[in-house]
Amino acid sequence: MTELNEEGGLVAEVAHMTPEQRAEHEAEVAEAVAPDREIEVEVGETLLEMRDVTLRFGGLTALDGVSFGIRRGEILGLIGPNGAGKTTCFNAMTGVYRPTSGQVLLEGKPLAKAPRHKITQLGVARTFQNIRLFDEMTALENVVVGADARHRTSVMGALLRLPRHHHEERQAVERAMALLEFVGIADRAADKAKNLPYGYQRRLEIARALATEPKLLCLDEPAAGFNPAEKEELMALIRKIRADGYTVLLIEHDMKLVMGVTDRIVVLEFGKKIADGLPAEIRENPAVIAAYLGVPDDDAA
Ligand SMILES: Nc1ncnc2c1ncn2[C@@H]1O[C@H](COP(=O)(O)OP(=O)(O)O)[C@@H](O)[C@H]1O
Ligand SMILES: [Mg+2]
Repeated sequence: MTELNEEGGLVAEVAHMTPEQRAEHEAEVAEAVAPDREIEVEVGETLLEMRDVTLRFGGLTALDGVSFGIRRGEILGLIGPNGAGKTTCFNAMTGVYRPTSGQVLLEGKPLAKAPRHKITQLGVARTFQNIRLFDEMTALENVVVGADARHRTSVMGALLRLPRHHHEERQAVERAMALLEFVGIADRAADKAKNLPYGYQRRLEIARALATEPKLLCLDEPAAGFNPAEKEELMALIRKIRADGYTVLLIEHDMKLVMGVTDRIVVLEFGKKIADGLPAEIRENPAVIAAYLGVPDDDAA
């Protein structure tokens, strides 16, 4: 793939740029990553609302009357002990499961029975607690597939060299490359996903989710299995994503980590919301402290 080689060369070039050139280049990458959005989004009106959502699996109530809103432009943390219902929230928001009662609203409109691909098109993207990539595809192809999910024109067909898609192909590949660079893994664009180091795979999942041009990016324990230095780098990436105009919902088990990066935090325990507030308020909240007592910070959920 010639584009890849050219772009691969670009990555090497970045290393030799002056600080000014590098800043300009990074601004260009950021713009390519978020083409249709204001670069600095104010934290504003509610983007997604969980309204009294109950979700049962047989006799088990995974979510019990949960209500909270995610405001445009914020990083909202969703925390709670294992089994609290965090991933189930994502599943309810992305149409994997339907609430038994209550509603999920995006920009004020109920998602109701919208199928998953429709919800992707409406602007909700997610990553998975257990990485899900196309192992045999390259990193770049994994991201192009993400863009496909958005546009529903066959960019993958374009990659297979159908001539009438040539323009879309170039655009898709360029944006995918920009996304890989944005998340910091462009140097391995041509490698199969299965051959990437674990940390790269986690970042690739984020790039693929961003490729769908979401309004809301939901990250399910993106730092799971990372050491403290890797976690810090990932939090820096999440801040950068928000600075680029995205709204982020972050599930993270590590309390210290989540305190450092989020604007607000919602806490679940046994399917119920037990707290909702600023990180400093959450830290002092007795119910939250009790919920977390005896739960090691790094317990992988
Ligand atoms: N598909 C499912 N079928 C049955 N029970 C489920 C299913 N998904 C989740 N649960 C249960 O719902 C509860 C919440 O799970 P989950 O949302 O994965 O928690 P968390 O992500 O906070 O660790 C748990 O008790 C879990 O076992
Ligand atoms: Mg989970």
